Amino acid sequence: MDVQVDVSPGFIGFTVVGLPDKAVGESRERVRAALLASGLSLPAKRITVNLAPADLPKEGSHYDLPIALGLMAATGAIPRDALDGIVALGELALDGRISAVTGVLPAAIAAAAAGQRLVCPQSCGAEAAWAGDDLEIAAAPTLLSLVNHLNGVQQLARPRPATRVETTDLPDLADVRGQETARRALEVAAAGAHNMIMTGPPGAGKSMLAQRLPSLLPPLSARELLEVSMIASVAGELPEGALTDRRPFRAPHHSASMVSLVGGGLRARPGEVSLAHNGVLFLDELPEFVPFVLDALRQPLENAEVTITRANYRVSFPARFQLIAAMNPCRCGRFGEPGYACRKGRSCDTEYQSRISGPFLDRMDIMIEVPAVRATDLLSRAPGEASKPVAARVREARQRQAERYAAMGVDVRTNGSAPHKIIEEAARTDAAGLSLLSDAANRFGLTARGLTRTLRVARTLADLEGAPTVKRIHIAEALAYRFLVDRKPQAA
Ligand SMILES: Nc1ncnc2c1ncn2[C@@H]1O[C@H](COP(=O)(O)OP(=O)(O)O)[C@@H](O)[C@H]1O
Ligand SMILES: [Mg+2]
Repeated sequence: MDVQVDVSPGFIGFTVVGLPDKAVGESRERVRAALLASGLSLPAKRITVNLAPADLPKEGSHYDLPIALGLMAATGAIPRDALDGIVALGELALDGRISAVTGVLPAAIAAAAAGQRLVCPQSCGAEAAWAGDDLEIAAAPTLLSLVNHLNGVQQLARPRPATRVETTDLPDLADVRGQETARRALEVAAAGAHNMIMTGPPGAGKSMLAQRLPSLLPPLSARELLEVSMIASVAGELPEGALTDRRPFRAPHHSASMVSLVGGGLRARPGEVSLAHNGVLFLDELPEFVPFVLDALRQPLENAEVTITRANYRVSFPARFQLIAAMNPCRCGRFGEPGYACRKGRSCDTEYQSRISGPFLDRMDIMIEVPAVRATDLLSRAPGEASKPVAARVREARQRQAERYAAMGVDVRTNGSAPHKIIEEAARTDAAGLSLLSDAANRFGLTARGLTRTLRVARTLADLEGAPTVKRIHIAEALAYRFLVDRKPQAA
């Protein structure tokens, strides 16, 4: 995107052309006021600002700063060559301050890759500095300080990359009493980044378990951290421009709209699925979500990215997330409780569960039932195993996955995201395992997708153990986690 400024004799005026949206139009007024406030009034000439290419929609206030810089170069307030090889973005306040805008990190990375320099708001400097030591950055608080910098009168200090020190402790697994099966499944899900759905009565601890998943996950790698932060930057969710290596955990409410979940809107903002990239998307009370909103998750679940198409734009954002879902067996939540007869009769559960489509369930690797907590477990004084040792096992298992896929020469990080062909090779099993698998395929009508997902989980079980090959026992446990999925008639 280029900003071209032309100052020529003629009627006094200031026009912005090139399909600007409303915010860019307002930009004209902000630029005029900010220049005046900085003692850099506009020349009494005809000014035309062209945002090129003209057929790309421009939005937001990002162009205030480049427009102002172009004007200043055109009128000689700064040397003309001061703008050579510069990428600039920032919003101007009426008093000449430069305010924060979204998307500075990706802009900085692009500038670094192209060997250009970056001019941005001071408050975004910490974010920009992550693009690397080689990138020259001018992060200015005001227009005046920027002018002085570009004229060589006053040097702006290079910003430093900031990290967010997470002060809040994550909830710990030690709080969970009993629920051995669910704890095991959670560990497996964490180890292989598997999608998981938990069904069980209210108060069984489903939400509690899901909230403890972050404490089991390894920190983001440097590359993942940049991916996650770029999305957060575009969404305007990088407080103080500081980055964290904590894996995202997004838990949108079931009233969430399509746009907030998958992205889009006026500004093509990334949605929850993208903000959960490299982390977890937790959907509590799954059947309460609007069905067509849930169905929109199928594309990102399958392709690890979302494409949003609107009349005036088409963008893709990465969306490789681990989906964790929880639901009650029926709306009243008491289905299957001994001695309780639901008012809705026997169909209460099927009606409720049918709100989740078969194809959606088919994308789950692990499906478990979480029964009510046993009183003896609740009363027991012995705490459950804490998150720390579990996280250590998870880290080792993930390390094995990363090494294996690197050795195979493929860009895969976890079993949960391994494509069909790759997992078939990685999870090659022995004769006993194979016969169990074909048995199950026949008996439960395992779909091709179901088969792949079983292999993925089996591979993770072997990785948790450090076993080089997948054995029958791993297949058996993996099948146990698919039990409910493949019993759903509509999953075929
Ligand atoms: N297994 C458990 N161990 C300890 N406390 C539990 C357990 N299950 C539930 N609780 C308690 O019950 C509360 C409700 O649990 P929650 O996770 O919200 O249940 P669900 O999501 O299954 O309805 C929790 O905040 C916790 O205090
Ligand atoms: Mg709950």
